[in-house]
Amino acid sequence: MFNAQLDQLTDYPFQRLTDLLGGPATADSLVMSIGEPQHRPPALVAQVLAEQAGAWGKYPPANGSPDFRAAVVEWLNRRFALPEGMVDADRAVLPVAGTREALYLIAQTVITPVPTPDQGKPLVLLPNPFYQVYVGAAVMAGAEPTFVPGHDGPTAVPDFTTLPDAVLSRVKLAYLCSPANPQGSVADLDLLKRNIELARRWNFVLCVDECYSEIWDRVEPAGALTACAQMGGSLDNVMVFHSLSKRSSVPGLRSGFVAGDPSLMAAFARLRSYGGAATPMPILAAAAALWRDEDHVRENRDLYRAKLDMAERIFGDRFGFTRPAGGFFLWLDVGDGEKAALALWRQAKIRVLPGKYLSRGDVGDTYIRVALVHDLETTERALTLMAETL
Ligand SMILES: Cc1ncc(COP(=O)(O)O)c(C=O)c1O
Repeated sequence: MFNAQLDQLTDYPFQRLTDLLGGPATADSLVMSIGEPQHRPPALVAQVLAEQAGAWGKYPPANGSPDFRAAVVEWLNRRFALPEGMVDADRAVLPVAGTREALYLIAQTVITPVPTPDQGKPLVLLPNPFYQVYVGAAVMAGAEPTFVPGHDGPTAVPDFTTLPDAVLSRVKLAYLCSPANPQGSVADLDLLKRNIELARRWNFVLCVDECYSEIWDRVEPAGALTACAQMGGSLDNVMVFHSLSKRSSVPGLRSGFVAGDPSLMAAFARLRSYGGAATPMPILAAAAALWRDEDHVRENRDLYRAKLDMAERIFGDRFGFTRPAGGFFLWLDVGDGEKAALALWRQAKIRVLPGKYLSRGDVGDTYIRVALVHDLETTERALTLMAETL
């Protein structure tokens, strides 16, 4: 009765965590397993949603509003130092209902699920450890996920240029995540350029998930579009994924965008017109206002920095603690991630995610991922308790 590909998926990491811990979170638990920002959302969200309340009665266009697309292009140009006109607001930008659905649906857009007699299934490259949606996307599109570890050890971003030709010739799609969930590492411009060049040489689609690009510690992360600009301005074979969930602490707004190669965007828009969720008009208006405001983003970043300072003070050099260059997760080496998650839950009511659920092979087995999404006071209490318990 069901799609046989589903059997190839493990349960979603949060379900696995609930099974491990013997039940869901309770009112008194400290939930640090989910990357769901609890910082106060900017006041302008509620304001704009109220002003736009009359527009709930309209079916929104799948490609959003001209004002939303203009706001996105203004932001991209400013943030990634792009020349005017490189990203065409009408041909190279689409709103999405959170980047998760977009990262999933792009595989359906790109993959032809028919194994070739000589080569077998098409391949999708993904990092290891990884954001779980990439795996589901690859498998359900009928491809074979190929897990590529960091080029410089388990905490780095992968470099697909190290793969042999026999693999690259079968690749249709590759996901890069920078700053990376879970480990917080960042791809530099050279790595991005090498991988863009590789995608063009082997004609696969390179999806660069940049949803943590605005949460950074010391250095603003490079972006794939900057790499494209410095390589002559073509967007061929490249798509970037951006979200307001982390940048603006509005995971419940379900708003992000995809930008990139106009021919890919046209195919993606076609698929989404059948199966994608269009973003409601009031949300598009709120999102446009958020992309035009950087003050709240700076405040948000400062708050995450203060929590990293706190984590550094509390953990020092224990559990392999290093400050992540980007994102808001700690990736702690605790010996046995599942055992540590269980102990933290039983002894301290703290929920964290074992690294095993975000990786294949044994790459993440010794780690836990800790989401620093709460206010300073809660975070201090939780991290102190965590250090004592571990
Ligand atoms: C790496 C990564 N990409 C994409 C997403 C999806 O975020 P959203 O759908 O809220 O835009 C997440 C959310 O946790 C994530 O961690």
